[in-house]
Amino acid sequence: MTKKILMICLGNICRSPIAEVVMVDVVAKAKVNDVVVDSAAIGSWHVGNRADPRALSTLQQHGLKSTHIVRQIKKQDFDEFDYIFGMDEENMSELRRLAPKGSKAELLMLGDFGLPKEKRIIEDPYYQRGAEGFEVAYQQCVVACQAFLQQRLQK
Ligand code: 4NP
Repeated sequence: MTKKILMICLGNICRSPIAEVVMVDVVAKAKVNDVVVDSAAIGSWHVGNRADPRALSTLQQHGLKSTHIVRQIKKQDFDEFDYIFGMDEENMSELRRLAPKGSKAELLMLGDFGLPKEKRIIEDPYYQRGAEGFEVAYQQCVVACQAFLQQRLQK
């Protein structure tokens, strides 16, 4: 059975497009089949845009590429996806608020997989000057996606 994963952050231009591409890469490298990954925003500000140029260049430095177009999360996502990941506590409380009662998706914080407690929040790098925060978010995503894959997708 195909497992569907949705990566969520506030704007869908920094953290969640990185997390999406990283999860696809980690799954492909592990030769795990039947996993579909998408990403979306809590907010509507950037709908229709591509990821922040700093997110794209960070991915490029690691040989990866995002072609994602920003979309906002919608009610149906909570029944279509098996796992919906937030990046920080604010994302998680929004996801819990938006989830229709009894919907299918498991709501998880990505950094709860594989990261030490003090690094479990994937911080928003948008307002930071420069691209350093994007590299930090990328590295957190790699560790967390690998841990999730081992714990939940490889049986
Ligand atoms: P993201 O970062 O949630 O990692 O995509 C943000 C991008 C844009 C905004 C906030 C966070 N914004 O307010 O426009």
